[in-house]
Amino acid sequence: LPTGLPVTASSHQLDLDHPALPRSAAADAAGRLAIGGRSLADLAAEFGTPLFAVDVQELRETARTYVGELRRRHERTEVRFALKAFPCAPVVRVLGNEGLGCEVVSAGELAIALSAGIDPARILLHGNAKAEDDLVAALDAGVGLIVIDSFDDVERLQRLASRPQAVLVRVNPGVAASTHAALDTGSGTSKFGVAARDVPQVIERIRRTDLLQLDGLHVHVGSQLLDLTLFERAAAALAPFGRFATYDLGGGLGVPYAPGDPEPSIAAYAEALVGALHRHLDPAARLIVEPGRSMVARSCVTLYSVVTVKRADRTHVAVDGGMGDNLEVGH
Ligand SMILES: Cc1ncc(COP(=O)(O)O)c(C=O)c1O
Repeated sequence: LPTGLPVTASSHQLDLDHPALPRSAAADAAGRLAIGGRSLADLAAEFGTPLFAVDVQELRETARTYVGELRRRHERTEVRFALKAFPCAPVVRVLGNEGLGCEVVSAGELAIALSAGIDPARILLHGNAKAEDDLVAALDAGVGLIVIDSFDDVERLQRLASRPQAVLVRVNPGVAASTHAALDTGSGTSKFGVAARDVPQVIERIRRTDLLQLDGLHVHVGSQLLDLTLFERAAAALAPFGRFATYDLGGGLGVPYAPGDPEPSIAAYAEALVGALHRHLDPAARLIVEPGRSMVARSCVTLYSVVTVKRADRTHVAVDGGMGDNLEVGH
């Protein structure tokens, strides 16, 4: 794929400032797109296509920006990478070395996080339909937190746990996110989280168990969010349930896909989120965030080779890959 996606069709000039490209994007001596000092055409020739290429420096810098911008405003912040955004052990290992933990939604994702050397204490298990196998794997591994999403979760965990397990309750905030309908996980009709009217009862049931320890509340309002006020509304929706030691305010920060798309900065996001925590919840609480897409989007590119070009009423360019290797698994 000698030219790549960010070539402007009219001029065939490389668009090196394309917001989906790592900041190291440059033209090599032959005028070909290079990332991290490596020509993408050379990488394709060496490894074959389709090929995921990761700019590790960009990945590290994004992780450092997340941790730095949040901790500067709220020291007790922990960043957990939402593994569904790129379930790839070497990528997770880089993030783990930057002090991040992981958010996982299945025994399979948990296995990837563990194989990348993530300390189980920094792993958090989520899911609106956790099978017993998922819960048993998480309990056996000793994950730091399990997020309760339903009455069923309380019943199953009570039965399966044989030692104390810290949990959060995921609240459905009843906040409709202005994003694609499939990415809106916070409105009243979403399948995620416990409905506000049931939260007191779920909390009560957890408190009656011997081994489940309620650390706090969780909310995740949606994905690819560009309107930062949504994060504040979601945090405010947790306030009526009382004060807790931990608040996990989820992930969801959006990224630009094309030149000119809005691009909320991680600093602006941190300001909105921490502001909401301090105003509506508890300035002394532990804050957890779970960024996925925005952690990896800019550092990773997928390379394809052009196989066939068909010129008819419309020009079709067929490549040697598709959704199977570039599916947004978690979204
Ligand atoms: C519970 C939870 N946390 C975090 C994320 C990550 O969201 P994003 O990739 O938009 O940051 C998701 C995405 O679906 C999620 O469901």
